Amino acid sequence: MCGIVGYVGGQSALDVVVAGLKRLEYRGYDSSGVAVLADGGLAAGKKAGKLVNLEKELVGRPLPAGATGIGHTRWATHGGPTDANAHPHLDNAGRVAVVHNGIIENFAVLRDELAERGHELVSETDTEVVAHLLAESFSSCGDLAESMRLVCRRLEGAFTLVAVHADEPDVVVGARRNSPLVVGVGGGEAFLASDVAAFIAHTRSAIELGQDQVVELRRDEGGSGGVGGAAGVSVTVTDFHGAPAEVRSYRIDWDASAAEKGGYDYFMLKEIAEQPKAVADTLLGRIDSGGSLTLDEVRIPDSVLREVDKVVVVACGTAFHAGMIAKLAIEHWTRIPCETELASEFRYRDPILDSRTLVIAISQSGETMDTLMALRHAREQGAKVLAICNTNGSTISRESDAVLYTHAGPEVAVASTKAFLTQLVACYLVALYLAQVRGSKWGDEVRGVVRELSAISGEVERVLETMEPVRELARSLARKNTVLFLGRHVGYPVALEGALKLKELAYMHAEGFAAGELKHGPIALIEDDLPVVVVVPSPRGRSVLHDKIVSNMQEIRARGARTIVIAEEGDEAVVPYADHLIRIPATPTLLQPLVSTVPLQVFACELATARGNEVDQPRNLAKSVTVE
Ligand code: AGP
Repeated sequence: MCGIVGYVGGQSALDVVVAGLKRLEYRGYDSSGVAVLADGGLAAGKKAGKLVNLEKELVGRPLPAGATGIGHTRWATHGGPTDANAHPHLDNAGRVAVVHNGIIENFAVLRDELAERGHELVSETDTEVVAHLLAESFSSCGDLAESMRLVCRRLEGAFTLVAVHADEPDVVVGARRNSPLVVGVGGGEAFLASDVAAFIAHTRSAIELGQDQVVELRRDEGGSGGVGGAAGVSVTVTDFHGAPAEVRSYRIDWDASAAEKGGYDYFMLKEIAEQPKAVADTLLGRIDSGGSLTLDEVRIPDSVLREVDKVVVVACGTAFHAGMIAKLAIEHWTRIPCETELASEFRYRDPILDSRTLVIAISQSGETMDTLMALRHAREQGAKVLAICNTNGSTISRESDAVLYTHAGPEVAVASTKAFLTQLVACYLVALYLAQVRGSKWGDEVRGVVRELSAISGEVERVLETMEPVRELARSLARKNTVLFLGRHVGYPVALEGALKLKELAYMHAEGFAAGELKHGPIALIEDDLPVVVVVPSPRGRSVLHDKIVSNMQEIRARGARTIVIAEEGDEAVVPYADHLIRIPATPTLLQPLVSTVPLQVFACELATARGNEVDQPRNLAKSVTVE
């Protein structure tokens, strides 16, 4: 939530910062703003609404040219999305500018203190207090990094802060606690950003920052480069008390084009199309020449995995749906009891965990606060945590005992697509690996599923080639108010995912149900011509499941529903009850979500487009949810 960029170098800071904000706009788009240090002073511009509003404002009221700057794109927490609440926030003298992601929980007390000392605060945000506190500290110590350390020690809550001061024109300072911030360095320039996407066009050398650290970027012609710096710029990292911190540098393996639309109208369309590759990439290097699994990065010893007596999966939103499918795979292949729980609920019910519990935290961004808090709680109770994550160096991956990275590449559209499919692949890998290590499946059985998993990327490709009728159908339903989704077994989480996609993109009433639950209440919703999507399990799996859903289709059709049936090729039993039939390739029962989800993604994207909605940036949402 909220995207932050900071820059020190030789180029126009405004250009670099605005380009960076464009890449971070998926994090929030309620307002945006920039500040540039130039001519011994500080100039700022900010505007409510999308970044394009700020760009127009800057054309009408250009800022002076400078090579040090910061910027922000906001997802509102404290105070509505107005010009006044947009970041950066300045002190009364207009010498300090600060941008912020997170929530400062003790801001009210700090604001009252500042007011008593004569400060005039003009916004409704929690952030503004930081600008004033920094100005006060700077006036006594004359050093922005030290001021940041002093201020951070007084703050409660979660925050990433990035600030500049007109008296230090070559310096940008950042700080983080429980909220993301990465450093990029190269070519005599340095960057701070919520996500590497903001600077990937300039450098692929990055530095991870730990919790409770302050970083100073300083233009330093001929300097040593500092910790992790480069010629022309120094990077210094300390804790909140000024003690030097160890940093880890890494190379970003995404290239700049991965974060571009590449000719598609929306990132979501591009990301849907990238799924076959993302699925294949997530398997790369994890299967040995004999067809068995080698998950070297899972640094939890096999001896510990053999002792696991319970698995708990924690995640939010789409990742939670992947977790629901993981439960079915883990229990089926390993016979270890597995629970899947919404991360936001997990720690508040005082879950029973111990050293024999394996907690799997699934997160695309690796920054979701609910999931982070759940994994911290699990570790405090002695459980081992394995993260399934798409973002190298993210907080969740750093704080887990082990990480299995999904290789989806950057996912920019707020609605998750390729991340979901790769999370599923990673969940299957973990489940099979547990089965392999514990011997709950024979080696040849594991290798058989691995072979089927390896073939899935081609099947996803095939599904994508047949999506035109789905798009046409979606357009024809653009004026409907409600769509229901039904599924059983692995089809149930897929139904929930289809409904979530439609809610977030088309702003329609969309609900997913376990098909068997229908008769316990939701069937009352069925009325004439109501579209109901039915995800049909493979008839080659547990035939009883298949037969039951065919009965459910008859029940709803008898009450007037218009059925949109997703069923595998060759399943003729569904034909008489399908008003619209979407065919998917036959796959093993547990792997079906990898193909059955794709039409639902396309359906939601097309329906949202037909309703004139913003596909990549749906209202009220942000991609990375870094508040609880
Ligand atoms: C779904 O399309 C969402 N954007 C959302 O539910 C998302 O999956 C959830 O917020 C979890 O995010 P994470 O994977 O980054 O933790």
